[in-house]
Amino acid sequence: MKSLEDLGDLRGKRVLIRCDFNVPLDGDVITDDGRIKAALPTLTYLRSAGAKTVIMAHLGRPKGEVNPKYSLSPAAKRLGELLGTEVKLAADVVGPSATATVAALSDGEVALLENVRYEPAEESKVDAERAELAAKYAALGDVFVSDGFGVVHRKQASVYDVAKLLPNAAGYLVAKEVDVLKKLTETPERPYVVVLGGAKVADKLGVIDNLLKVADTLIIGGGMAYTFLKALGYEVGISLLDAEKVDTCADYLEQAKAAGKQILLPVDTRVVAELDFASRTASAVTIVAASEIPADQEGADIGPETEKLFAEAIRGAKTVFWNGPMGVSEIESLASGTNAVAKALAESDAFSVIGGGDSAAAVRNLGYPDTAFGHISTGGGASLEYLEGKELPGLAVLEEN
Ligand code: 3PG
Ligand code: MG
Repeated sequence: MKSLEDLGDLRGKRVLIRCDFNVPLDGDVITDDGRIKAALPTLTYLRSAGAKTVIMAHLGRPKGEVNPKYSLSPAAKRLGELLGTEVKLAADVVGPSATATVAALSDGEVALLENVRYEPAEESKVDAERAELAAKYAALGDVFVSDGFGVVHRKQASVYDVAKLLPNAAGYLVAKEVDVLKKLTETPERPYVVVLGGAKVADKLGVIDNLLKVADTLIIGGGMAYTFLKALGYEVGISLLDAEKVDTCADYLEQAKAAGKQILLPVDTRVVAELDFASRTASAVTIVAASEIPADQEGADIGPETEKLFAEAIRGAKTVFWNGPMGVSEIESLASGTNAVAKALAESDAFSVIGGGDSAAAVRNLGYPDTAFGHISTGGGASLEYLEGKELPGLAVLEEN
């Protein structure tokens, strides 16, 4: 991978850059601008180098249709505030507005194209369709910089195909994220503890498989824990359960035992009879042993004994990676476990890495500064796929040339 400096003198050059500005919004208010802030080192470098910066980014999943709900306008505004300069937002992606906006840029100025996912070809599975769109992107730049780490696992026109058409380099964010993940994969200081949460066990099987080889302790919470509890022979009531994966989970428990590694599961859990995601409310919360979940209740957070157990394991670690909430953390009465993990990480001296939007939002909402952690990754899916040992198209393409 080439670095920004390898691109040479950028004065007066049009630098086309992919960023990940897929930020959580409440109406048009950005509730966590971490991904925009993470792009600043590269953008500041490009501005002081006198480049004409043209940013490509996406927001949500508009599925190839123009939809004002997914406009990048809040991101353009926030980026302008952070950079202390106006960021011009084109009204389209590769149309007349984009062309005119780029042509009007002076050295050191920054423009943002509209949501690349307004273009149906951006996410097309047909190579030729993506290549045709990528050629239109490439016409807007002289060089390409890849800095949207959160999307490098996507084989999409603005991430993958465009990199083949222009001299390219990794931006500072991509370079830093890869550095950290490489360290976790190849030379973690031990004990290396991984905390996994989130709803679906099926999404995490690949990464568990790979982490069992690398990590010393695997902590499992969140909705996925109940399939593991079932594998221990417990009844889980109406908790999330992936019945088809119970055997796989039992297999992992065996494998870990044979390899002398620890898989820590909840010993107690907070259960509720009803959850309402829309209104963010739940019925009364009760704490029960993990082996005694009532038939008509579902586990929706880890319990206090489990919080202590997990925090203890985190305290003893030299390296920690965390992805995924321990419970339904968007509902206040079910956020305790996630907050406990965040606190344990913030207080630990280990090199701690947080991946995934929910976990990153949890630590920021609790008021911890980003500096309390070793690294807060801007990629959830991307960092997991990296740790899983998969090839990420947006990184592989940079290594090709
Ligand atoms: C993310 O939010 O995980 C990235 O921006 C990628 O978005 P996607 O999952 O919609 O491709
Ligand atoms: Mg995502």
